[in-house]
This record gives sequence, C-alpha cells and structure tokens, in this order.
Amino acid sequence: MRTPIIAGNWKMHKTPAEAVEFVKELAPALEPYSTVERVVCPTFVAIPGVAAALAGTEIGVGAQDVHFEDQGAFTGRVSPTMLKGLAKYIIIGHSECRRDLNETNETVNLKAKAAIAHGFTPIIAVGESLEQNEAGETAAFVSEQIRGAYAGIPAEDALKTVVAYEPIWAIGTGKSSSAELANSIIGDVVRGTLVAIYGNNIAQQLRIQYGGSVKPENMADYIAQPDIDGALVGGAALKVGAFTDLVRITAESLK
Ligand code: PGA
Repeated sequence: MRTPIIAGNWKMHKTPAEAVEFVKELAPALEPYSTVERVVCPTFVAIPGVAAALAGTEIGVGAQDVHFEDQGAFTGRVSPTMLKGLAKYIIIGHSECRRDLNETNETVNLKAKAAIAHGFTPIIAVGESLEQNEAGETAAFVSEQIRGAYAGIPAEDALKTVVAYEPIWAIGTGKSSSAELANSIIGDVVRGTLVAIYGNNIAQQLRIQYGGSVKPENMADYIAQPDIDGALVGGAALKVGAFTDLVRITAESLK
C-alpha cells in the first residue's frame, strides 16, 4: 500500500518567526496521525528555524524550489547542498515556478536528478492550464511533462519521487477539479505514463498527489479515489486547523 502524503506549500507566506510559531502549534496537532506522511514547505529563509522547531517530530520539511547546480554564479538561487540537513523534500516544477521563473521540463528534469543525487524526495508538480484543458490537450500535455521530468531517471531513483498533479486552473481559485476527474488524470495519464516508462510494478508504488484548492470540505472525496495518494496544499495549509483536518481526514480514510 502507498503511504498517503499531505504536503503544505506555504508559497510566499509567513516570516521566519511566524513560521516557527506556526509549526510549534502544528506539530502536536499532527502527532496522532502517523499513518500519513506530513510535510511543510516554508520559504527558504524560514527553513532553518522550522527544521529546528520540528526536530524530533515526524513532520518533514520541504523546500519550494532548488537549483540543479551545487554552487556557482546563480544570483538569488539555492542549491541542494545548502538544503542538506535542513529539508528532506523539494517541490520541483510548481506551475508558479514554470510561469514566473522560466521553469521548463528540462530544468525540472535537472533539478529532480540533482535532488535525488543529494538524497532528497522531489515532489514533481505537473498540470495543464485552463486553455489546454478546454482544448482537450490535458492528457498529451501532462504526459509530456511526466516524460520530460523523468527523462534518464532510472527506476530505482524514480521510486524516490512523488508526483503532484495540479491543474493550474484549480490552484488558488477555489475551483477544484472533481475527485473523479482528478483521479482519471492521475490514474490514466500520470500513472499511465509512468507505467509506460517504468512498467506497472514501479508505477504502482509511486505516490501521486492531487493539488488545487484542496480543503477539509473536499479532502475525503479526493483521498477516497484509488489513484490519489494525498495532496499538495496551498491556502488550506496556512492554518493549523485546516491543515490538521486534511491530515486527520486522510488518516481516517485508511481505517
Ligand atoms: P491551493 O494551492 O491549495 O491554494 O490551490 C495548491 C498549490 O499551488 O500547490
């Protein structure tokens, strides 16, 4: 069975002090739900404080992006070596990075390889725009994103990754994809492409999250779907109560 994973993507929210205060409240609230992998992804500057505050807990820390080089003349960027010991997960290819930071399938691939080489768990984000969705291009586009992200990554390394399918039109809009539709893209397209690359045995072990306006009110529907293994959550991850509810609902779905 695939362990469900709920990850909070805080985006550009919370100062370092606010982040530490938040996780001090969050950690005891999430403690009972050990059947769910629980992750928070603060901004880079908040990661050291959050990592220290969560030391000794089972809550993982993730970064929201990374560069693929270890060091160099890359102003404003952060390398995997700098995150070592502080974070365990790295979100790679979020649509906001694809939109604002010239992220491409090629850089996603380089970053995924670098993250794996340094022992991180990449959370590789894919998803189509509203225009692509309406034009019926979702399957082809998402499949291409998966093929690009995993190019040259051997099966044993692919097993160290998580995928997040996030239709762009559902991110931060309150317009979540229906659970059935999300499951069919995740199952047929994302997992289907992974089956084509790695075979069924490997693809069935990989965890695939849904993301895009996930909230306590719709979490049960998503997690009940056979191919959805958790969620990558923005807005609802910024509140202790809502994030705890997402994790609790996920844990209860396993009973
Ligand atoms: P949202 O963001 O939950 O606020 O829609 C999801 C994401 O961008 O990861």
